[in-house]
Amino acid sequence: MNKAVYPGSFDPATRGHLDIIRRSAKLVDHLVVAVLNNINKKSLLTVEERVELLKELTEDLPNVSIQSFSGLLVDFMVQQEAEVLIRGFRAISDYEYEIQLAHTNYSLNPDIETIFLVTRNEYSFLSSSIVREVAKFGGDVSKMVDPRTEVYLKNKFDELEETQ
Ligand code: PNS
Repeated sequence: MNKAVYPGSFDPATRGHLDIIRRSAKLVDHLVVAVLNNINKKSLLTVEERVELLKELTEDLPNVSIQSFSGLLVDFMVQQEAEVLIRGFRAISDYEYEIQLAHTNYSLNPDIETIFLVTRNEYSFLSSSIVREVAKFGGDVSKMVDPRTEVYLKNKFDELEETQ
């Protein structure tokens, strides 16, 4: 397995995402973490912030790089010369969406193979939206995200409060 892409919104990256990144990086020569720049979806962190944070959180992994992308994932993967697409699979509730994604990507480009890594038990309840919700109301997200992300979120919500 040569080059793989792990795509997502990462708004923000959770401990579950980071675990998938670390485990995938051991399986492939090079892993590109691809941060979706979705102009139609309102995100908490800008795409630049998400990329910057992920770069910081993966700086000890020499075969991991972080990039943003817009448009179709399969087009980005062709541009990257990567044929392996990695997704984390948390629970049965992920099944419908993930199967839909995998089939769509396969029908758009049959050379692309989706591989699922099962999320570790301790992270299987985690999602970026849960993290945003808890952090927004000042709850403790230390078990959900890296300490650097925790600080980032706190500053972000303080900033948002000041502008309101
Ligand atoms: O972390 P997410 O939000 O579940 O990641 C979803 C993502 C980014 C993998 C997916 O939305 C995506 O690939 N978007 C790019 C547009 C695309 O290629 N769509 C076709 C597949 S439905």
